[in-house]
Amino acid sequence: MIGDTKVLFSGMQATGNLTLGNYLGALKNWVNLSEEYLCFYSVVDMHSITVRQDPAELRKRARNLLHLYIAAGLDPEKACIYFQSHVSGHAELAWILNCFTYMGELNRMTQFKDKAAKHSDNINAGLYTYPVLMAADILLYQADVVPVGADQMQHLEITRDIAQRFNKIYGDVFTIPEPFVGKAGARVMSLQNPEKKMSKSDENPNASIYLTDDPDTIVRKFKRAVTDSEGVIAYRDEQPGVRNLLDIYCACTDKTPEEAVKEFAGQGYGTLKAAVAESVVSVLRPIQDRVKELEKDKAYIDRIIKENAEKAEYYANKTLRKVKHKIGYPDRIR
Ligand code: TYM
Repeated sequence: MIGDTKVLFSGMQATGNLTLGNYLGALKNWVNLSEEYLCFYSVVDMHSITVRQDPAELRKRARNLLHLYIAAGLDPEKACIYFQSHVSGHAELAWILNCFTYMGELNRMTQFKDKAAKHSDNINAGLYTYPVLMAADILLYQADVVPVGADQMQHLEITRDIAQRFNKIYGDVFTIPEPFVGKAGARVMSLQNPEKKMSKSDENPNASIYLTDDPDTIVRKFKRAVTDSEGVIAYRDEQPGVRNLLDIYCACTDKTPEEAVKEFAGQGYGTLKAAVAESVVSVLRPIQDRVKELEKDKAYIDRIIKENAEKAEYYANKTLRKVKHKIGYPDRIR
């Protein structure tokens, strides 16, 4: 909360090829919620370096992600769309919060365990304290709501715990944030293994729909999607492949699972896959076209980057000044 205004914060990593999961689980909800809040959408490039990056590639991807935010429907004149690394307050607050976070808490983070297993040659301290930086992102802007996919829930819980711990010692410094997880698309699963979430780091390109995939590729990937041998289109745990297809269809068309099941009653999986592919193409195509236009408008994007970094910094510094004073850092003389 800033004054009387409710605040929304969320972010996405500029690493790998973004997937339909990132769009349906997060970005789509961001757009829907934007009108109601003072919004901060960060390209979280500081989180990206917990895994080794090619510098030129990271810079390019970060800028592409900013284009994508705008192309998906966020208005950068209203919502504060910015690069995390442009606001040093994230790093400063992360350090402070590190001193209010227990190793036992961080040891429980499932995403750390997964990533450490995947990058066993580079289990760095940043990977370990990643959730603290994420807590700093959110708390720095006094966010009331944080729209994320289901996989980020554990990080939201630790954010709330850290904030509550801090407030208990120093008074009401931080707003306690609530997660917002959408009904459809909160957990988009791999097309090749519906027990696993769709992930940009999946080695099998057929497992994920990338936001840059062309219509033919999308149709082909859905045709190859793993289903089952039941031959019935039903929305139930025993048919995770079919359920995932229905979830994607519902998230893209704003229908309920009941409506979708009714629509496909008596049809084969081929028909369902074709319809899902079409619904995805019609959602992604306008976004892809808009990204291409934005890429040509360097001056406009540069202005957005500059102005929004200043706006984010203004709000971040407000919280940071308060926090520094509370914990006993000597006040700056100006
Ligand atoms: P990241 O970059 O992995 O993912 C960005 C968003 O996409 C969602 N998502 C999914 N949703 C549904 N189905 C999927 N298969 C799927 N894959 C990804 C994620 O839940 C997320 O909402 N740590 C965060 C980034 C972050 C952040 C923050 C988010 C840093 N600071 C502060 C919110 C607030 C991450 O790595 O997300």
